[in-house]
Amino acid sequence: MLFKFLISSDVKSSEITPERIYHNRREFIQAGVGFGAVAALGFNIPQAGAETTALKNIIRDGIYDTEEKMTSLRVVSSYNNFYEFGTEKDDPFRNAHSLRPRPWTVKVDGHVENPGNYDLDDLISPHALQERIYRMRCVEAWSMVIPWVGIPLAEIINKLGPTSKAKYIRFETLYDKKQMPGQYRRVIPWPYVEGLRMDEAMNPLTLMAVGLYGETLPNQNGAPLRLVVPWKYGFKGIKSIVRISFVERMPRNSWKIIAPREYGFYANVNPDVDHLRWTQASERRIGEFRRRKTLMFNGYAEEVAHLYSGMNLKKNF
Ligand code: MTE
Repeated sequence: MLFKFLISSDVKSSEITPERIYHNRREFIQAGVGFGAVAALGFNIPQAGAETTALKNIIRDGIYDTEEKMTSLRVVSSYNNFYEFGTEKDDPFRNAHSLRPRPWTVKVDGHVENPGNYDLDDLISPHALQERIYRMRCVEAWSMVIPWVGIPLAEIINKLGPTSKAKYIRFETLYDKKQMPGQYRRVIPWPYVEGLRMDEAMNPLTLMAVGLYGETLPNQNGAPLRLVVPWKYGFKGIKSIVRISFVERMPRNSWKIIAPREYGFYANVNPDVDHLRWTQASERRIGEFRRRKTLMFNGYAEEVAHLYSGMNLKKNF
């Protein structure tokens, strides 16, 4: 099934500077200007790594916003971690053109009422797309502010109907060496795996992103579907998801498998719990010179601290 809905035009990011389009869109929304052209969901991304399709005014403004300066699209889409395309920060930008994000099927299994193989369009209702500007914090002590486009993961979960046995949700990235040549090297036991506790997954902050800066996701940012959990370190944000499983036991996530003393399951941003090899008390916002103090739960304590009440966060890092 293919959803049809309104987008502004067939403008491609290759034709106009995406960041400028993006800022214009925000001004248009504020001025109440609408558009009329009809197009499909717009996930039919061209092959090039950084090329995207406009989502424009299908997006509703989300409830989460920030006055903080956003990190430029150039940086957001060229300084990445996506080991399936290489381990250097600029590898994904250079190499992710081999990923084919459409058509895209997501397998849903485990303790769930509606398992099956879902086309992306059936999993994500475009009517529910929101824009949310989130602070993102990487475990390597740099941070960015990114305007994501996506839908709350809770909406997808509600549609799939997990049973009472489902205590955790597990995600898997595509495993296809032809599309993801970095998988020829076993730097990670492929496929990349991540997971959340069910209540974390249901928290309204948790987003399944399909775009950023008003465009579909660039391949290097995890097209066509990736997780965004803004109060956790960036490695929880698994990219290019092809499988969602509802499970009873805590999933073994990739980084915990590789280095269990350095990376935990929870991965909550916590200035009081250092990484084995470096401090997590401060961070460098990309584009800024001075380091800033890292905030507990990346500044989202009000929304999520209750999820961990009574837990020892030093032990459960
Ligand atoms: N997902 C997959 N499949 N493979 C990866 O290597 N890297 C993670 C996460 N998701 C990664 C992944 C890490 S370490 C980070 S910091 C974020 O993606 C980076 O997301 P970004 O490149 O969009 O900023």
